[in-house]
Amino acid sequence: MLYSTQSAKQTMALGKKLSSQLKGGEVFGLSGELGAGKTTLVKGIALGLGVKKPITSPTFVLMKVYRATNRPIKKLVHIDCYRLKGSEELAAIGAPEYFGQNDTVVLIEWPAKVKKILPKKILNVKLKLGKKNNQRNINFNNR
Ligand SMILES: Nc1ncnc2c1ncn2[C@@H]1O[C@H](COP(=O)(O)OP(=O)(O)OP(=O)(O)O)[C@@H](O)[C@H]1O
Ligand SMILES: [Mg+2]
Repeated sequence: MLYSTQSAKQTMALGKKLSSQLKGGEVFGLSGELGAGKTTLVKGIALGLGVKKPITSPTFVLMKVYRATNRPIKKLVHIDCYRLKGSEELAAIGAPEYFGQNDTVVLIEWPAKVKKILPKKILNVKLKLGKKNNQRNINFNNR
């Protein structure tokens, strides 16, 4: 499914809408260049899942675990692999323990860097800058 948004606000709204379909156990890979809107989409999903703390980019800490309040989803895990050299670094901090947990949704920016340790059933979202200034094309291919 391909969406086109015209502002960060619209991308957040899309994430919020998407969150209402989540059951828990999903692992998302969010791909796209710097500034494509990956973190913005995560913010919208977090809003929809009732995360109260503000989502900040986990670039320097690699992984952040937030408490979600929309049952059955209790945790939102946000991972940013931009600075990683490989899968081992992510495995070392215990990230794979969150994959596929029924009460957890995992969102991974720059998933290509950690391909080796990702589950097979990852949901891929590809974000691209559009032709217009604030346009972003967001493709959910669910494979
Ligand atoms: N339609 C849009 N959707 C999302 N963000 C938009 C849109 N239009 C403009 N923006 C701006 O683009 C930037 C997107 O930043 P964001 O941190 O979400 O990107 P990112 O893909 O996570 O980048 P990085 O790889 O650096 O983590 C924000 O400054 C946001 O305000
Ligand atoms: Mg980001």
